[in-house]
Amino acid sequence: MHEDLERVLFTEEEIRAAIERVAGEIAADYQEKEITLVTVLRGAVFFAADLARALPLPVRMDFLAVSPFPLASGSGMVRIAKDLDESIAGQHVLLVEDIVDTGLTLRYLMKTLTLRQPSSLAACAFLDKKPRRLADVPLRYRCFEIPDRFVVGYGLDYQQHYRNLPYVAVLKPEVFRG
Ligand code: PRP
Repeated sequence: MHEDLERVLFTEEEIRAAIERVAGEIAADYQEKEITLVTVLRGAVFFAADLARALPLPVRMDFLAVSPFPLASGSGMVRIAKDLDESIAGQHVLLVEDIVDTGLTLRYLMKTLTLRQPSSLAACAFLDKKPRRLADVPLRYRCFEIPDRFVVGYGLDYQQHYRNLPYVAVLKPEVFRG
């Protein structure tokens, strides 16, 4: 284990099992329908790639990126920095996040994507950090709930590091407190 890490929270095997469970839930809900996975860059690409391969359904993939609203950093306000490449009108859209923390990003994205008239819209997150929630967001699928700790790996970063760890780990507080 990397010296900056306190402990492993979820191993590769636990992650694989959780994704298979969630893929099964999604497959049961959507039956044979085609799903468009709308993935929020950057961290969620790892989860989206594994989820897509675990889904026994036709899947389309598109991506967007958000960034803090200019002059409002720390407020939780975000804007779309990179938009989808294609229309989602009439499609069954599943928004894919690596982590839902305050829920403000997900709330904004659900509102924005609803205006584009998909046939259905639901959200799926790899990690659900419920203790930090400020917005009551409809998160239909989640792999794991986590406590209010700084976690990295499997897409999640600290200053762009650790995303490629194949497991999820708690970062030592002294690393991000300096
Ligand atoms: C994470 C995550 C969500 C957001 C959730 O992105 O992917 O977009 O934070 O936080 P919230 O629930 O408090 O709104 P991050 O800013 O870490 O970007 P990254 O995926 O590029 O690392």
